[in-house]
Amino acid sequence: MTSERKSIHGQWSSRLAFILAATGSAVGLGNIWKFPYITGENGGGTFVLVYLLCIVLIGVPIMIAEIMLGRRGRQSPINTMKTLADEERRNDHWVWLGWMGMIAGFLILSYYSVIAGWALSYIFRTASGVFVGATADGVNSVFGDLVSDPERLLAWHTIFMVMTMIVVSRGVKNGLETAVRFLMPALFALLLMVVAYAMTTGYFMEGVQFMFTPGEIKREGVLIAMGHAFFTLSLGMGAIMVYGSYLPKGTSIVQATMFIAAADTIVALLAGLAIFPIVFANGLEPGAGPGLIFKTLPIAFGQMEAGTLIGTAFFVLLVFAAWTSAISLIEPVVAWLVENKGMNRLYASVWTGVATWFLGLGTIFSFNIWSDKTWSIPYLFKNYSFFDTLDYLTANVMLPLGGLFIAIFAAWLMRETSSRDELNTYNGLYKLWRILLRYVTPIAVIIVFLKAVSVI
Ligand code: PHE
Repeated sequence: MTSERKSIHGQWSSRLAFILAATGSAVGLGNIWKFPYITGENGGGTFVLVYLLCIVLIGVPIMIAEIMLGRRGRQSPINTMKTLADEERRNDHWVWLGWMGMIAGFLILSYYSVIAGWALSYIFRTASGVFVGATADGVNSVFGDLVSDPERLLAWHTIFMVMTMIVVSRGVKNGLETAVRFLMPALFALLLMVVAYAMTTGYFMEGVQFMFTPGEIKREGVLIAMGHAFFTLSLGMGAIMVYGSYLPKGTSIVQATMFIAAADTIVALLAGLAIFPIVFANGLEPGAGPGLIFKTLPIAFGQMEAGTLIGTAFFVLLVFAAWTSAISLIEPVVAWLVENKGMNRLYASVWTGVATWFLGLGTIFSFNIWSDKTWSIPYLFKNYSFFDTLDYLTANVMLPLGGLFIAIFAAWLMRETSSRDELNTYNGLYKLWRILLRYVTPIAVIIVFLKAVSVI
């Protein structure tokens, strides 16, 4: 009986613990670092609209499916897919879905950790008071100094990877719950403070208009918006699936998903509302790229009352948010090594940590010694660095592809009795979910893919 299957890695202590851990996974650099800069690069309004549509029509149904598959399979994504494919009498090839996800998580963490390292270094920058009264130029050059120094980036990347692997080696359930419960609301409160500051700049409405007035969007902008919906909700690679596998039976997956998606979206929108007014007030470029938050927020902290304290706390919490996401990125790999290779968690964590750390060097060098090493693929991207390519490949290709297959498996190949039993929700809600996942979600993903390669 499926309902009696148990995870060998243990279970969350409660429904709340799961919700908090999954929110910790979803809310991270994606919301505060990535969302504002890709919104800026892709012209604002329409991009935000496409992103929001993707969250509702693609992200939410897939998140429900992913948690459901995880809870039913109760193993690492690869083994979960194997077990469920057997149970539903489907082909064994479905394990590839788990493989692709595992590889995506590993690739993402390699650059995620480098960016989290930037945030780590900004804790100390901000605390030292260098930003007090700093001009946009001054703040810009602090950022330039950091990213042009591979040694410093390497040191911070190493520290972040060690932090992540320590938690993963102990098992993700210890401590995550308490930590997220207190620190997430604190992050939210500090974001509100920066938004309040943004309102005093005199450019708040410019920021709002930029984010919410529809305008031009390029073909690739649509793909980036969809890819980001997957990235920000941690979907399409098994992170949420593996967290779902530790979820006790009988908790409402649909409700949990609504909460996680709403919290994640609100944090991203607040980050945008905090940053764009600062961009316009200081005559900066919204399309400044991956350094955007590091070039804008310090200006605010330099001018706000108690800005040094608030800014330091902000970067501490940002690192924390990145940490709880990083843990979930690598958990599928570690869970699989424990299940299939008989490794203990510590050993599995050290090995994956070292491999990820090594790949991270490519991202570090993208910002300095390899910054002129770029390449282009016609129709897809132009002059992309190692980091840009990794980001594109994972967020815009691998995650949506993983999500598409999850939708196909959960809505077309899994028997209705199985998914009904696992979701155990109101009939109308179940039907709505299944229709969305059968038709709307896969078609939307395919259309966006085809549009990106200029077929339609
Ligand atoms: N959702 C995380 C963020 O927004 C990143 C992430 C992606 C985590 C995929 C897990 C899996 O920062």
